[in-house]
Amino acid sequence: MTADQLAGVPVLLEDVADRWRQLRAAGPMSYEESRGLWQVLDHEAVSSVLADPATYSSDLGSLAPTQEDFETFTQGNFVGMDPPEHRRLRALVSQAFTPRVVQGLAPRIEAICARLLDAVADHDRFDLVDALAYPLPIIVIAELLGVPADEHRLFQEWASILFSGDQLGETADMADLERALEAIAPTIREMNDYVLEHIRRRRAHPGDDLTSRLIAAEVDGVHLEDQQIVGFVALLLVAGHVTTTALLGNAVVTFDRNPGADATLRSDPDLLPRAIEEVLRWLPPFPELGRRVTRPVVLGGQELAADSMLMVHLGTANRDPARFDAPDVLDVTRRRNPHLTFGHGIHFCFGAPLARLEAQIALRMLQERFTSLTVPSYEDVTYQNPAVIIGVRRLPVDVVRP
Ligand code: HEM
Repeated sequence: MTADQLAGVPVLLEDVADRWRQLRAAGPMSYEESRGLWQVLDHEAVSSVLADPATYSSDLGSLAPTQEDFETFTQGNFVGMDPPEHRRLRALVSQAFTPRVVQGLAPRIEAICARLLDAVADHDRFDLVDALAYPLPIIVIAELLGVPADEHRLFQEWASILFSGDQLGETADMADLERALEAIAPTIREMNDYVLEHIRRRRAHPGDDLTSRLIAAEVDGVHLEDQQIVGFVALLLVAGHVTTTALLGNAVVTFDRNPGADATLRSDPDLLPRAIEEVLRWLPPFPELGRRVTRPVVLGGQELAADSMLMVHLGTANRDPARFDAPDVLDVTRRRNPHLTFGHGIHFCFGAPLARLEAQIALRMLQERFTSLTVPSYEDVTYQNPAVIIGVRRLPVDVVRP
């Protein structure tokens, strides 16, 4: 499709970026009446909030609806915890999920990508999300946990039920949220039972997998409880799946929308890691993080009362001219790139090395297998709810093989 043909076709990811530009013009902070919260918009204010968990808590507590199965299921989910609980749990799972474990996954990730792309070897057009971006991170997490191959399909089914329709993101209405949680409760119970059973099997017969290492992890004589391991598995699925799917789709859309970037990468494939960082800066999959103010404080020139709610905006911080040269230009060769897409401080993304590794392997393989990979029509592309996830749901692509 030529640039002229593209004119007038809405590309939601670019509309979102326009909205961020307008938001950022408001200054470091902006009050959002509809949600009753402060948006934190510039790089300095966002970094200072994320670096100070004592003043800006991740425990959003009573604001979230409760549901018994969900509560049980998310017990080890330390992304919503503050120190010292957060430190204790993160230290335990860090023993099991080390950089070496992640690096050791490279050959498996290669094999999974190759198998997924072999399955579309006869197609000149396919949905990149269906074929690769969606299944890859789930299969990697399932393999990491030591789930037998014939049960990977269960993880895929659960993930699609948990994320179908973004039930948890479409509305700010508490009653709607509670109904949405009720609707997914049977899936949550099923996952909970499955993972508990998987832990029991691994306790009886330990293997060389993350589940066995989580069972063995110990800090000061304390081990993870089974239900906390389940919560961590849930966190891996929620935090590590949709985000990585989004990153892969966003990379393909970004390179398609900026043919110069695609040509640069094809002529110098060693630039790929830098290009991935630029895509992460350009379109952060989780654009907003919630925090609760624990004591009166002045932030970005605004006086905030205790219990004020903040929405920390990574999308606008990533385009702050005070931190980035030419922030509204996509530059796959950018060297200085202190983007905040993986967060900052004690909650910095636990899976960032894995997400980067998956993206490098998958995007390199797409480049090697196809001399051209383009999006034929943006009318056929569908998107996630951009308030929650910046990413595509459906991405038909046309490919040409050497
Ligand atoms: C935390 C983004 C992939 C596991 C976070 C946070 C962000 C983030 C922004 C911080 C949340 C906060 O401060 O409230 C992303 C993005 C990804 C990605 C953009 C992909 C492009 C992954 C993967 C995994 C993972 C692949 C694991 C397999 C986690 C965990 C936390 C986390 C466990 C919680 C860390 C803590 O609270 O200490 N992620 N993530 N993420 N991420 Fe990721």
